[in-house]
Amino acid sequence: MKGVILAGGLGSRLRPLTLVTNKHLLPVYDRPMIYYPLECLLAAGIDEILIVTGGEHAGDFLKLLGNGKLLGLRDLHYTYQEGEGGIAEALQLAEDFAEGGKICVILGDNIIEKNIRQAVGEFFTQPRGAKILLKEVEHPERFGVAKIENDRIVQIIEKPKDPPSNYAVTGIYMYDNDVFDITRTLEPSERGELEITDVNNEYLRRGTLTFDILDGWWTDAGTFESLHRAGNLVAERGANATRIVEMKSLAEALATRP
Ligand code: G1P
Repeated sequence: MKGVILAGGLGSRLRPLTLVTNKHLLPVYDRPMIYYPLECLLAAGIDEILIVTGGEHAGDFLKLLGNGKLLGLRDLHYTYQEGEGGIAEALQLAEDFAEGGKICVILGDNIIEKNIRQAVGEFFTQPRGAKILLKEVEHPERFGVAKIENDRIVQIIEKPKDPPSNYAVTGIYMYDNDVFDITRTLEPSERGELEITDVNNEYLRRGTLTFDILDGWWTDAGTFESLHRAGNLVAERGANATRIVEMKSLAEALATRP
């Protein structure tokens, strides 16, 4: 399965930090934010990765990650989202990269404590459809929220004023190739974006959406509060974490860079 990291957007909630670089390159404790979704995919055995970026500072990704060799990757793929059309629009840019196969998508500002190996393994054997990961949170109104009845999701509601549960839909999604046909049928939401929640609801309607509850903590990092929280959580996670780049080898690599 291939991996897609969505790392576009203007990061307007993090201005002025995002006036000088892309949100996903801001520091979260001791490394740039994008390292965490990269680690998440790599730890699940996914090493063919596309980064979808956008905005004025897209070039900074190349400066940091280059062709992926410093991270131990054979290669790294990039594409560029024009404008602010939303997560589902950004995903459309991954169609050629997916080559008809399944993909695991992660939002570039999502950070998890543990790993998604088991869920990825399950989706590998799931004949078709999609799989999402839920996490119980204190403020579900900030997220897509699952309405659950008899242990089944019956609806996903994007940023509900009156959340039907505390289960947020995390920014980690697994899709079969139908996802690209589905995104073509979407209409922009009130915020003018193609919503990933509409994609997930379409899989739900087709009866092919499965879900797991994510083990360990999960956070996004798109506001000052969540960025700060993310840094603290990562610092506390400490030595048990999966680390793709040890600080020593990174420092060595950077020192030898022209
Ligand atoms: C997006 C999705 C939302 C999901 C969240 C996870 O929200 O629309 O359903 O729960 O990511 O981070 P956004 O970051 O666009 O506010």
